Amino acid sequence: QAFFKPILNAAPPSPTKRHSKISVIGAGNVGMAIAQTILTQDLADELVLVDAKPDKLRGEMLDLQHAAAFLPRTKIHASTDYSVTVGSDLCIVTAGARQIAGESRLNLLQRNVSLFRSIIPDLVRYSPDTILLIVSNPVDVLTYVAWKLSAFPSNRVIGSGTNLDSSRFRILIADHLDVNAQDVQAYIVGEHGDSSVALWSSISIGGVPVLSFLKSQQIAYEKETLENIHKEVIEGAYEVIRLKGYTSWAIGYSVASLVRSILRDQRKIHPVSVIAKGFYGIDGGQVFLSLPAQLGRGGVLGVTNVHLTEDEAQRLRNSATTILEVQAQLGV
Ligand code: NAI
Ligand code: 2OP
Repeated sequence: QAFFKPILNAAPPSPTKRHSKISVIGAGNVGMAIAQTILTQDLADELVLVDAKPDKLRGEMLDLQHAAAFLPRTKIHASTDYSVTVGSDLCIVTAGARQIAGESRLNLLQRNVSLFRSIIPDLVRYSPDTILLIVSNPVDVLTYVAWKLSAFPSNRVIGSGTNLDSSRFRILIADHLDVNAQDVQAYIVGEHGDSSVALWSSISIGGVPVLSFLKSQQIAYEKETLENIHKEVIEGAYEVIRLKGYTSWAIGYSVASLVRSILRDQRKIHPVSVIAKGFYGIDGGQVFLSLPAQLGRGGVLGVTNVHLTEDEAQRLRNSATTILEVQAQLGV
């Protein structure tokens, strides 16, 4: 029995917009930060949580459902069974081991590759047309693993990559120059982690290229100051993990920004982990690392041609080599 009676001669309702369904795999710190940001930003009609721990999962689902009176309308389900993800437009994978204080992301590899062998085939089976957005660490290698296991075209497999590192970079530059972080255009590319590369030569604020502006004004800036800012970006995650045990809020917002660009077809540029062979002299093997990419409903629409200095391009190739060396041990 419908709550509302149709008015006289009414046509059956037609959907006013495309229904969007997002599945978040892993309901830990990161998965839940992503889920709650997606809900508050009204990015999905249906949100599905999957985790291996049924009680924790049901608890998280109920807790979010209880907020319905304060949120945009979203259907929330949860299950340990992957059939609940059927027909997802986007699957966000956050399941897996995380670092303990001082541990590197690459150290998580073997544990998380085994998990991916069980997770990715189920996601593909229930949502063959989905876009996979990988967040679990080490994110670049696991994005490659997800690509191999899914056999999806490369535009539908994306790693959250250095979208987060670039936000850390932007806030540090913004604080240094006393401007708004949203006005700072600055990219960290390469590995999400220790071998990441800061693209100093292309930073601009409100359309003004920063390094050439400082030079033209004869404002001295020390190479060391720049290196310290990049060091702070790399150390940022380690510091948060040492202080609170894990990182969550920033990755939640970072991933929500990617979700918006993809599902709302925003065609915005984000530094995310994409297949990088053929760009900036990267050759030798299939490797995923972050480059500034345009994202839309089809996933990765293309990679932008940012000008890199020879030093930046070399650092990027070194980052690719680091990831390839790790990948070589995998046998995927
Ligand atoms: P967590 O330990 O809080 O959560 C992991 C969740 O995965 C747990 O709830 C666990 O039950 C679940 N899980 C384990 N095996 C599963 C399976 N087979 N199927 C479904 N769920 C399963 O860890 P946290 O803090 O949420 O971190 C998750 C991952 O995200 C880690 O690998 C971490 O390094 C990574 N991460 C990545 C970031 C990035 O920028 N790419 C940022 C922050 C964390
Ligand atoms: C982060 O950068 C640990 O990869 C995680 O927050």
